Amino acid sequence: MTDHSKRIAEVERYLGKLGLRHEIIEYYKGRSMLVTGGAGALGSNLILALAQLAGKEGRVIVLDNLSAVSSAGPWNVAPLPNIMFVLGDMRNEDDLKRVFKEDPSMVFHLAGFPGNQKSIDYPAISAEVDVLGLIRLLEYSRLAGVEKFVYASSGSAMCGSFPVLPLREDFISMHPSAPCQINKMTGEMYCNFYQHHYGLKIVNCRFFNSCGPGDMPGQYRNVIANFIYWSMKGCSLPITGSGEETRDFAYALDLVQGLIRSGYEPAAPGEDLNLASGKAIRIMDLARTINSATGNRAEVHFLERRRWDGKPRLVASFEKARRLIGYEPLTDFDEGLGTSIEWFWDNWEQIEACADFPPGMNSALRGGQINRAVAIRPLRSFPEKTTLNRI
Ligand SMILES: NC(=O)c1ccc[n+]([C@@H]2O[C@H](COP(=O)([O-])OP(=O)(O)OC[C@H]3O[C@@H](n4cnc5c(N)ncnc54)[C@H](O)[C@@H]3O)[C@@H](O)[C@H]2O)c1
Repeated sequence: MTDHSKRIAEVERYLGKLGLRHEIIEYYKGRSMLVTGGAGALGSNLILALAQLAGKEGRVIVLDNLSAVSSAGPWNVAPLPNIMFVLGDMRNEDDLKRVFKEDPSMVFHLAGFPGNQKSIDYPAISAEVDVLGLIRLLEYSRLAGVEKFVYASSGSAMCGSFPVLPLREDFISMHPSAPCQINKMTGEMYCNFYQHHYGLKIVNCRFFNSCGPGDMPGQYRNVIANFIYWSMKGCSLPITGSGEETRDFAYALDLVQGLIRSGYEPAAPGEDLNLASGKAIRIMDLARTINSATGNRAEVHFLERRRWDGKPRLVASFEKARRLIGYEPLTDFDEGLGTSIEWFWDNWEQIEACADFPPGMNSALRGGQINRAVAIRPLRSFPEKTTLNRI
């Protein structure tokens, strides 16, 4: 049985620190809200925050097909009395009917087929989920008279390989490097169409990279979760490129803040908003910090950069979100990373059972040969749990 108490307390602490305005708190109180992908890395944090805001009279309905990880059940979803989990697929009419029967007045659409390499390996499924699934959900939302539809888009999907930095919303490249990027662009266009044509109020929230509790490792999953996983197993961390590359890693609850504000603020519908940390983190620093926090002595090894991974640097500007919705990240990178590692320690058995890696393989190995190899060296036993001094 997973203990969710720490995550619930962390969300409570975050919302307390955030101090949302009275109108926002009132707006969410008693609402029925649908979150697709609510068992995922971001969704599992969002539903905790929405459940707290909705209170006893409100309800958070989660629709998730649990496809992101090989998991027997929704263990990432806290069993709170006002969270209702529906195991289902947003492409399936019956599942959509089931969740819209609960009469949600808002939809947060986070379900998706993320992962550049995954979408290259399965381009048709990725379009079915990210494009056709979205269209079905938009249709149900407008027919059900949903008040607001918040779409989880991607900032790095919009900018191709040579973005002008810090990346702003209006820098668009028509040369995406993976099918999932095409899908997110297409998704935003469908959302804009539904806003213009039907008046459905939609906000396109563009995420970049994230970290936080609830983010599972796996062959197609995010770099931070995978680095923590391999590091805790005592393996050398695979760096695809030189390690000088930078990315913009936002803490999950800061992104949740952006989603909550986007769902409320009257200036948000019809806009695309970067939700990011605004800070560039070097991949080499990320790997070293994680290794030092877990006590992993196996260091790193280098692989060729993956073909689709053309951006040497990425950092986003969130000035527009700050101006229109008052978005302000509250969490230092080190603090967010520390909380993520703590979540791994606390849930190691579940995580190890669900982590989806073919034997001996990490997603980073796809599309690149080891060129400065340090043998992957699993520890014979699990490393002693180190005390995390907020790295
Ligand atoms: N986390 C990031 O860094 C990041 C960056 C850019 C964009 N995004 C977007 O934000 C959203 C959430 O990201 P995340 O990191 O939480 O992803 P995630 O993979 O952890 O969560 C997505 C969830 O959607 C569910 N899902 C997938 N297909 C489904 C379907 N057909 N029906 C119902 N549920 C389905 C999965 O089981 C999973 O729980 C995604 O759409 C992603 O593309 C995330």
